[in-house]
Amino acid sequence: MCVTMCAFSCCLLVTLSVPLLLFATLLVPEISSAFYRAQVSYFDGTGLLVAGLISTGRHFTYCLGDYLGCVKDQFAKELTETFSWETGVGLVAIFAPSMAYHGDKVGTIYFSHEEYRRWAYDPAAGRPPDMMVASNKTSLPAGVLPDLSPSILLNFDTGSEEHTARRQLLADGLPALAYGAKLPGFMAPQHVSPSDGSKKAAVFDTIGYNLFRSLFGVDVAEVLPAIFEYDATFTPAVLGAPLLGFQGRKLAEIRASVMRKVEQGDVARKFMELAEERGMPGKERLDEMVWIALFAGYGGTSNLAYETLKMIQKDPKLVKLFRADPDAFMLEAARVRPPVGGMNPVQYRNSTKISFSSIGKIWNAKTGELAMLLSSGANRDPQVFKNPHDFVPGRENAERLLSWNNEWGDFKSCPSVAGCPAAPRGCPGTFLSMNLAKQTVAFFIDKIPLAPSEL
Ligand code: HEM
Ligand SMILES: *[C@@H]1O[C@H](CO)[C@@H](O)[C@H](O)[C@H]1NC(C)=O
Ligand SMILES: *[C@@H]1O[C@H](CO)[C@@H](O)[C@H](O)[C@H]1NC(C)=O
Repeated sequence: MCVTMCAFSCCLLVTLSVPLLLFATLLVPEISSAFYRAQVSYFDGTGLLVAGLISTGRHFTYCLGDYLGCVKDQFAKELTETFSWETGVGLVAIFAPSMAYHGDKVGTIYFSHEEYRRWAYDPAAGRPPDMMVASNKTSLPAGVLPDLSPSILLNFDTGSEEHTARRQLLADGLPALAYGAKLPGFMAPQHVSPSDGSKKAAVFDTIGYNLFRSLFGVDVAEVLPAIFEYDATFTPAVLGAPLLGFQGRKLAEIRASVMRKVEQGDVARKFMELAEERGMPGKERLDEMVWIALFAGYGGTSNLAYETLKMIQKDPKLVKLFRADPDAFMLEAARVRPPVGGMNPVQYRNSTKISFSSIGKIWNAKTGELAMLLSSGANRDPQVFKNPHDFVPGRENAERLLSWNNEWGDFKSCPSVAGCPAAPRGCPGTFLSMNLAKQTVAFFIDKIPLAPSEL
């Protein structure tokens, strides 16, 4: 009896520890890289998906869960080592659960500066109508997408009539988006003090407060905690993780409370009138814009400010660099810590053959297949950014970062963020978000608690 018990538990221990040990060896960077190379070279379909999930799990373990500050870089490192900067395109297991479940398990990913640009500057780049970033819309509960129409700006091919019309409306109806826009003076919400710079909610509240004052001329102080909750609930959907029905209802409820504030402002009224004049449903367009402000606007800008403050906290000599040139500093911070993963998945409109010479594989992308774009790759392409891992505000080609999807430098050449042939799909919030993030970092920087080891 005792012997069988022991045999059983020993057996169990061994069975459990073998995979655990194998997983632990993956924490060695070289082994992890070799594992990645092997999976994309020899596996396909579900096999590659499973191997890819193991790699993803490894990165999260190695990075202690720090997605923006570490996981993305680990992923980019192995991708570029395997496929080479010259090729600029690679293969990945689709780790977004919703995307993999409803679509292909493996897809192409464009990561060099040049290859990223190939899509981001294509005046007719295809976009899937049935996706919300990495979630297939069929898997989203009610309340995640805008209430009045699930067809969002992100779903339209670049330069399609609808895409152009909606972007023109943003440019004309939201003066705060313009380059050099006159914004209301920066103000921290009442409950936030300059010594709160290491508190995520305080930084996010500061961005949220100023974002809605700037964009819509309204005070959302009362609903800032709800907006913070909104972002945390929404983020998994962006990554294609499942959301439950009650979470969708919560999102809709919070959005409605923000909408009630926004509607009190003049900007909203004029925005809707302008839309109607142009034959667009005004209320529906405003509903979409509030949805975008809560997602790309609040989430993206808050993460940019918060990640930058975290970086400064760890390395006090950055305080001086920021003071020397806040604009150059923030541009460089956005290059190394892009808060938005990149352009949304794009869709091949024609079948395309891609040759991966480094692993001896040819890929036939089908019409309708999705492809991904990685700005953490493009932003660290040594062909454009010398010593890409160094933090150098004002570096050569500083304005060529792709964090806002098109180059900052190109965007500046147009009077507005819409209808700009030099930057056909840049983020319309580029200038506003940069301004808000910069002022927020400046507000907290004097009292930011610096890491003791660095003092
Ligand atoms: C004031 C804050 C912001 C606003 C109002 C805003 C607005 C928007 C809008 C309306 C789009 C859709 C554009 C289209 O489909 O043509 C978009 C896309 C995008 N935004 Fe922003 N955004 C903001 C902040 C940010 C920040 C901080 C970043 C990153 C540094 C960012 C990066 C992007 C990227 C990469 C896209 C994807 C473009 C695409 O997939 O076509 N945004 N943003
Ligand atoms: C989204 O899901 C539906 C239903 O499973 C599927 O028919 C469609 O092809 C999916 N779209 C993409 C782009 O994967
Ligand atoms: C894709 O194919 C269509 C029709 O076959 C053609 O008109 C179009 O120019 C092609 N697009 C590209 C980007 O090659």
